[in-house]
Amino acid sequence: MFDSITQQVPDQHIEYRHQRISIKRLDLIHPQISGNKFFKLKYNLLAARQQGFEKVLTFGGAYSNHIAATAFAAHKFGFQSLGMIRGEELAQRPFNPTLATAQQFGMQLEFISRNAYRQKDQPDFLQHLQQQYPDFYLIPEGGTNALAVQGCREILTAEDAQFDLICCAVGTGGTFAGLIEASQQHQQLLGFSALKGDFLTHEVAQLTTKCNWRILDDYCCGGYAKTTPELIQFIQAFEQRYNIPLEQVYTGKMLRGIFDLIDQDKIGPDQKILLIHTGGLQGRAF
Ligand SMILES: Cc1ncc(COP(=O)(O)O)c(C=O)c1O
Repeated sequence: MFDSITQQVPDQHIEYRHQRISIKRLDLIHPQISGNKFFKLKYNLLAARQQGFEKVLTFGGAYSNHIAATAFAAHKFGFQSLGMIRGEELAQRPFNPTLATAQQFGMQLEFISRNAYRQKDQPDFLQHLQQQYPDFYLIPEGGTNALAVQGCREILTAEDAQFDLICCAVGTGGTFAGLIEASQQHQQLLGFSALKGDFLTHEVAQLTTKCNWRILDDYCCGGYAKTTPELIQFIQAFEQRYNIPLEQVYTGKMLRGIFDLIDQDKIGPDQKILLIHTGGLQGRAF
């Protein structure tokens, strides 16, 4: 099913302050099932197919990369798709590019209140949805579950054992957990949270038993999807210098964080660094 999509992309190397950094350009995998989305959806859609489901249902915000990617992947692989979108007021407004793309790929969009959305993992709520939209395969918010973690293990290859430090942006934690699970004992993993608070550390701890990792929220600019003029300036300067596109919710914050840690000498010059470019460029907005 996924054979038409290449999984291996070449690393790109950049120099910053005498440090050579490798970037795994998962954003180049595919224009729509870009970045980590390919790995998170792969085993979920295979399971849906094997279990005989014709419909997938998932959750996301109005700008969710996961919603856009799931709509496309469902369309490509012959599933109907349903997106439960946070915020009932959005139904009355013109769709933004993310929602317009999802709809274009046939996703049925249902707008639910923030209160209802908070119950997205509750068995009662899910049972209610099953009655309303019978026979769907559930992909949780952000696509994170055990099968997503299994898929994200495949982001790292045997050659990546040469790296000492592996960095990734963190939203719901599934991608980072997959990287941790695939990592070697001598490697450290650093997650750059797109959200404020340390709850992601607890979430990721549920998905792995390893301890060679930590998550920082110092570069989230105050919260999910929040930006500052400095962040946007950083991204624009980075793109101009290295010719690698970033976006403001995940990858821009990670790059800014890693450059800052290098500036502060918190990462030694002898460390071999691998950054995971997780895509998300459909949500680039500046
Ligand atoms: C571009 C991008 N990078 C990173 C992440 C974080 O992935 P995860 O939710 O698995 O932590 C996301 C969220 O799904 C994303 O869209």
